[in-house]
Amino acid sequence: MSDDSRIEIKTNSEIEIMRAGGQILKEILNELSQQVKPGLTTWDLELAARNLLNEKRVQPAFLGYRGYPASLCASINNEVVHGIPSAKRILKSGDIIKLDFGILYKSFYSDMAVTVAVGIADDESQRLMDATKAALDNCIKEARAGNRLGDISHAIQKTAEDAGFNVVREYTGHGIGRRLHESPQIPNFGMAGTGPRLKKGMVFALETMVNAGDWETKTLQDGWTVITADGKRSAHFEHTVLITDADPDILTL
Ligand code: MF3
Ligand code: CO
Repeated sequence: MSDDSRIEIKTNSEIEIMRAGGQILKEILNELSQQVKPGLTTWDLELAARNLLNEKRVQPAFLGYRGYPASLCASINNEVVHGIPSAKRILKSGDIIKLDFGILYKSFYSDMAVTVAVGIADDESQRLMDATKAALDNCIKEARAGNRLGDISHAIQKTAEDAGFNVVREYTGHGIGRRLHESPQIPNFGMAGTGPRLKKGMVFALETMVNAGDWETKTLQDGWTVITADGKRSAHFEHTVLITDADPDILTL
């Protein structure tokens, strides 16, 4: 009987596929990030993403997932995650944009997100992005065999709150493999020393989602776009990470 709550351990051959997929994803997302500039629409970025998918002969992870209508999630400023690309959304200097992208390669998923400034961001936005990236770096350091899941969550929360920000509570990181979302859910808050023990061969999509203001979010009428309830800005970074005997292995680095 299958048990959806158990955390899968990937075999070496599965890991090598996920590593290759992770590298392709990284190349695509780096290319998309470099294209971000004032005047571009988020639909332009969706089209660029589709071209890169074709070029690299890989499938989008998000298109059609629970009915999601695009390959890319492009969320601007107060949008937290799951912004749907649109020809009406024009990037302007000073915006921050979250690009969240996933691919399916040889039956395995990988998932990655970055936040980038359009032109130059104001100091507060830059601090928010820096803290959110630091939260991802710090939580990855805890992604080691023998540690517990709560160690990862706690590192995210501590880094974000020490910087004066708040973590998103309604969306989480997740296991990843033959399915985009596998067990466990990995909240952005929690207690160190609690939760399941991490083992070699587990692969996690670690995502840090940090709000400049309060943690509460709401979802727009489109059924997807998540925004901050208070209208303040939010940042998001994500890597697909393998637990090993030694240091964490970032498959999307
Ligand atoms: N990185 C996000 C996640 O893991 C993207 C999912 S968007 C969706 O949840 F459209 F696929 F739902
Ligand atoms: Co994810």
